[in-house]
Amino acid sequence: MLFPVIMAGGHGTRLWPLSRQQYPKQFLPLLDASLSMLQATIKRLEGLDTPQPLLICNEEHRFLAAEQVRQLGIRQAQIMLEPVGRNTAPAIALAALFAGEQADDAVLLALPADHAIEDVAAFHAAVNAALPLAQAGKLVTFGIPPTRAETGYGYLRRGAAIEGTSGFEVAQFIEKPDRARAETYLAAGGYDWNSGIFMFQAKRYLQELARFQPEVLAASQAALEGCERDLDFIRLDADAFAACPDISVDYGVMEHTLDAAMVPLEVGWSDVGSWSALAVQLGQDEGGNTLRGDVLTEQVGNCLIHAESRLVAALGVTDLVIVETSDAVLVARKNKEQELKRLVAQLDAQG
Ligand code: GDD
Ligand code: MG
Repeated sequence: MLFPVIMAGGHGTRLWPLSRQQYPKQFLPLLDASLSMLQATIKRLEGLDTPQPLLICNEEHRFLAAEQVRQLGIRQAQIMLEPVGRNTAPAIALAALFAGEQADDAVLLALPADHAIEDVAAFHAAVNAALPLAQAGKLVTFGIPPTRAETGYGYLRRGAAIEGTSGFEVAQFIEKPDRARAETYLAAGGYDWNSGIFMFQAKRYLQELARFQPEVLAASQAALEGCERDLDFIRLDADAFAACPDISVDYGVMEHTLDAAMVPLEVGWSDVGSWSALAVQLGQDEGGNTLRGDVLTEQVGNCLIHAESRLVAALGVTDLVIVETSDAVLVARKNKEQELKRLVAQLDAQG
């Protein structure tokens, strides 16, 4: 059985100040006025032969998640609540343990909640193509043809084609390389971006976790064993989960496993992870500008300007991101997105 799980516990800090701790980007209708990123992720599964997805998010966002699911008319969605975020390796471990309780041969389709995918039919075709590989014990990731030396993604070095399938062995998985290495990969060819969507048997993932991250496995098991379940939520044991190391599936498992495979995904994919990614996704005018809300410009180029509660006027500036909300304003150079994480971390530290 293919069992979808949506990872919706991230902070979306690179889209601050629109994306906030209390209201992270996956709950915002960033691209579509009527659906949040999470809702679009759930709707994208319609037509695949799967049960309703398991959502895993932070306890703080339980009402947002439940309300957004209810708006889609879904009654039996399961929502698992993490008392603290410990990144994606534990989130997927919890899903694998949970799915394994229901079916010994459960295959997980782990989906981030922050992607745009234009061609849903092609996405479904790739999912169906990946299933036999996952059933054969592969840890499948979906590969995106790279278009720039992006340092915020994982890279997959393509190995041999896997006979009888549309997949390839992954010769090497490199999570978030520095710019020099990313440029080398792009120039060399034979690399794909990791889309961050994964498919594997629940039990196979747990085996790899036992090998590479035994502490994550132990803490996830304890957190689920001690959980409380009610009609709406699965609440993990807070003390047990607090002891879990904080590590992503990419660094924790995918960089180490010898059994990774890649299925190409050519679907108009974007991780709407940063302001410049969002600008590309929303479209730019002939001056390279993306203007949203009450904005007045003169001699402005390659800027994203978003005004929420006041008029924003800009004159004679280029390559800026200007985001105005009722209580915070960001002015940043467009290519400084990775550093924005650090800036927002300072805010959190100051309270
Ligand atoms: N439940 C839960 N708990 N979900 C989480 C947590 C957590 O602690 N941390 C992150 N997530 C969710 C995010 O909400 C997002 O939907 C997804 O997991 C991926 O996390 P990101 O933090 O957005 O990862 P990334 O974008 O830096 O990197 C990943 O995605 C790239 C492509 O978008 C990696 O898989 C890269 O290799 C990949 O290229
Ligand atoms: Mg992301």
